[in-house]
Amino acid sequence: MAKPVLLVTRKLPDGVEARLASLFDARLNSADEPWFRDGAEIARRARAAGAAGVLCAAGDPMNAGTIAALPDSVRIVTTFSVGVDHIALDACKARGIAVTHTPEVLSFATAECAFTLMLMAARRAGEGERLVRSGKWEGWAPTQLMGVTLQGKRLGILGFGRIGRQLAEMARGMQMEIHYHDVQRLPPELEKGATFHPDEDGFLAAIDVLSMHVPGGEGTRKWLNAARLAKMKKGALVVNTGRGPSVDDEALIAALKSGHIRAAGLDVYDGEPKVHPGYIALENVALLPHLGSATIETRDAMGARCIENLEALLIRGENPPHRAA
Ligand code: DGY
Repeated sequence: MAKPVLLVTRKLPDGVEARLASLFDARLNSADEPWFRDGAEIARRARAAGAAGVLCAAGDPMNAGTIAALPDSVRIVTTFSVGVDHIALDACKARGIAVTHTPEVLSFATAECAFTLMLMAARRAGEGERLVRSGKWEGWAPTQLMGVTLQGKRLGILGFGRIGRQLAEMARGMQMEIHYHDVQRLPPELEKGATFHPDEDGFLAAIDVLSMHVPGGEGTRKWLNAARLAKMKKGALVVNTGRGPSVDDEALIAALKSGHIRAAGLDVYDGEPKVHPGYIALENVALLPHLGSATIETRDAMGARCIENLEALLIRGENPPHRAA
């Protein structure tokens, strides 16, 4: 029997591509040619191939226009990401196209990334690295690049899902106090002693570090705006490894410039790969290029999740295990 045709929009780890090629008639983009940035081109290639599935990734424009232009042969869109904010879920649903993603396997790596940024912001690691590389460092000095310790500080986690809870686990090891805000309180076995703040204002006023883990989309657009920043303590830190659009960049840049927010660490950006020039100009913000899940182990595990989903639907005719819609 002919193997189902799978259109793959991005270069994936070699082992993942090899497995895809063994199971499917996989049309790979191993050279990572930039056609994945163009929804019309993704749909054109899916039509030309008679694809039964599309394997896309975070940031690919799988919007309503792209989904509408896919051929009727497409039964599944699987994304190499946990986030699905780049996919028009309603449009997929209306066309009977299953959408799957890669939950759980990237929680630890993404929490590690949030932790890295929290430390970089607190300990001015980016500034220090730039100083050494500039050749201008003149040696140890008692008042040089003094940051703040995380020990004993209150970490406020916005969105206490898998990634937020994994970060809490790590932060307990740094003797931080864990606070969280979410739409609902979690059971004690998941809370593990963290303080729940049903009220947003109380949460923002209580914490020393805000780490954002919200999924993106219209519901959280520009959530961290000037009004909410003003409710935070002077000298607090901000970390975002969720989605860029949930931060109002102008407001955060103003707060970083005034010192109301001491420092920030960002891995995601509104309109990435563009980064607001206001951030680039500031010393007190650590900037990473959306590295949250970028470990060899995690990317292999994300590939395995995609394959589980594709095999279930396209080979065995079963409901895929990790459906987002
Ligand atoms: C995701 O999985 O949603 C990340 O942002 C990309 O790893």
